[in-house]
Amino acid sequence: MTATDLYARAQAVLRLNDTGEFTKPSPRQYPHQWNWDSAFIALGLAHFDLPRALVEIRSLLRAQWRDGMVPHIIYPNGASDYFPPPDFWQTENLPHAGNVPSSGLTQPPILSTIVRMIYKNSEFGVRNSESRILISELRTPNSEFPQLLAWHRWLHTARDVDGTGLPCLIHPWESGMDNSPLWADALDRITLRDLPPFKRRDTIHVATDERPLATDYERFVHLIDLGRRLRWEPRALLDQMPFLVQDVLFCAILHRADEDLRALAIELGEDTREIDDWLARTRAVFNARFWDDARGLYLDYDVRAQSPIRVNANATFAPLFAGLASKEQAARLVAEHFDNPREYAPAADSKYRLPSVAKNERGYSPRRYWCGPVWIQMNWIIAHGLRRYGYHAQADALVRDSLALVAQSGFREYFDPRDGSGCGATDFSWSAALTLDMLSY
Ligand code: SER
Repeated sequence: MTATDLYARAQAVLRLNDTGEFTKPSPRQYPHQWNWDSAFIALGLAHFDLPRALVEIRSLLRAQWRDGMVPHIIYPNGASDYFPPPDFWQTENLPHAGNVPSSGLTQPPILSTIVRMIYKNSEFGVRNSESRILISELRTPNSEFPQLLAWHRWLHTARDVDGTGLPCLIHPWESGMDNSPLWADALDRITLRDLPPFKRRDTIHVATDERPLATDYERFVHLIDLGRRLRWEPRALLDQMPFLVQDVLFCAILHRADEDLRALAIELGEDTREIDDWLARTRAVFNARFWDDARGLYLDYDVRAQSPIRVNANATFAPLFAGLASKEQAARLVAEHFDNPREYAPAADSKYRLPSVAKNERGYSPRRYWCGPVWIQMNWIIAHGLRRYGYHAQADALVRDSLALVAQSGFREYFDPRDGSGCGATDFSWSAALTLDMLSY
């Protein structure tokens, strides 16, 4: 398939899933608005329809809670066959919630980075005249900047349990990596009591063996039930949720987003002191909290168990995206892990980069959602990180494999690293949006 064909097909997927105000991640499996999906989608849209990209960003921020949180699922279009439906979250009428029906959770805050990338159009092929429109829109009183600032502030304060400003996640869905083996031990420790009745709907459109296990879903629902009993009140959640983790991917994305928000602040003539403080605090604690020098890996931290989560998932490369690794740490991540055929590099047991979990991990499962398949947005994040440290050959390999996967199997949600076959949802928006982006550099 030519690059022009691939580009046209990717655009067609974004058009197919476009509701006018927001873009569904996929037509059947995810028929509402998701937080980081919308951000990646906006980047893809910016390549051919900048005004529509701005609508996507605005519709997401319109759902911001009064306390600053930007929720992970937004239901502007009411209920569907998706579980959980909007009323399951019991977020209506909370004094700190927003005006649009939503979940009570958040998701990786990639939006400021995407806004800056769109704004710094030269790298991304958006024409100058269009980017000037965006710049002038950003300068208006209703601009995105104060909303982005409020969200970052909420993450660094309302989710700060130990004074570091590293946000805690209260549910695996907040990491975006729902059923990763990263969460296995933390979820195992949860005792299920009074589980509310529920019916999964995610296996209507996707094969059961490509989705989380029933035991995972029971815990996902149990945690939602606890959250709603606590009225999604941040202090109570930090005190009482049995799942409480500091996640490398989430914290790295936030740090990179802080850098990008700071750059936007400077463009807009805003004060940067608060953002400077977040950046300095994260830099001061990140490596002490997450780096395992014996293994040369970044590991998540289980706050409830007060111990590192000793699982090798590809989120370990995310600190490169944020410039948080030293040159030596980056060299170890690449030589000992990225290029290691027992873990992530192609070998007899895998053809495509980058499995979401190291192939030699106990929980590795190459077709099951976040247990091993290749995800296009992880490849995109890690490729940017590798370039930041000068590993261009490795970054090129990620882009090449990502484009080969979508050319071979279509814009699927995730891919089997063994043969590149597609898994999960079809017509998946961020796979299409990031294809548009990757085709342009
Ligand atoms: N990813 C989730 C799902 O599978 C929710 O964010 O429904």
